[in-house]
Amino acid sequence: MRRLLHPSEMVEYCYGSFRSGSLVGLVPTMGALHGGHQALVARAKDECDLVVTSIFVNPLQFNDPADLEKYPRSLQDDLEALEALAVDAVFTPEPDEMHPEPRVFSVALVGWQTEMESTSRPGHFSGVATVVMKLLAMLGPGRAYFGEKDFEQLAVVKRMVEEFHLPASVVSCPTVRDPGGLALSSRNRRLSAAGVERARSLYSVLTKASLDLQAGRSVQESVATARLSLEERGIDVEYLVVADPPLLRRVEAVSKLSRVFVAARVEGVRLIDNVAVGDGKP
Ligand code: PAJ
Repeated sequence: MRRLLHPSEMVEYCYGSFRSGSLVGLVPTMGALHGGHQALVARAKDECDLVVTSIFVNPLQFNDPADLEKYPRSLQDDLEALEALAVDAVFTPEPDEMHPEPRVFSVALVGWQTEMESTSRPGHFSGVATVVMKLLAMLGPGRAYFGEKDFEQLAVVKRMVEEFHLPASVVSCPTVRDPGGLALSSRNRRLSAAGVERARSLYSVLTKASLDLQAGRSVQESVATARLSLEERGIDVEYLVVADPPLLRRVEAVSKLSRVFVAARVEGVRLIDNVAVGDGKP
């Protein structure tokens, strides 16, 4: 496995591979790798000639400095896991190389108006879009893999690629869950065993809401019931919304594209999840 440290090495690796006819798959991550990341890597391995994983805890996307501080870091374990998955290269830049100071540019979202992450975490998607724009510039005409676990992030990235005419293609991958339904996340490491058990009800409650909606129950009623079920289990709900791709505007009547989205705190850990209502086909 090649270790790429500087953005110029990443550019040389990706464009050199492209020139010699190899399709490069990029899996951007912030490390603390788990089965969700591994599924993205496995999919990229299946579909591409070469796979690069980036590990970079991007300071621009944390609006809370304490959250950045607490973000789990396990580089040595991550490198071993990627080696075992036969990843071809890993890109691990330092913050001052990824974002040289003084910073003059950032990607601004001027028309992304959801009542979910963009409202709850002001500036978050600008930080994500800025780092992903840099990674996709280094990748060039390859494939980039993102998880549906962070569905709003995936939708923002898809739209950015479209709007900026970037040559990369975005591949979306289904959410990987533990046997109890909890979406795998680096943040789950901060939950106690009781917290994990409690957090599992996020998925069961979302699934129930999705079934209610499919059975014709109104959005308002389904969401209210779901919110109450979570609150009864001691879960602090930040938002519970039904919205439709591609722009994830909130809807009052479901379509085949609709999804139910939740953000909630369990033991002070902020968790997000989402499930489909329809089959996702327009
Ligand atoms: P991170 O949280 O490390 O996630 C990296 C990728 O793994 C994202 O595309 C995310 O959606 C996907 N992922 C995480 N948990 C998953 C799960 N349980 N099932 C399927 N996919 C999962 O998301 C980020 O990092 C950052 O915002 C990043 C895109 C790297 C930009 O800094």
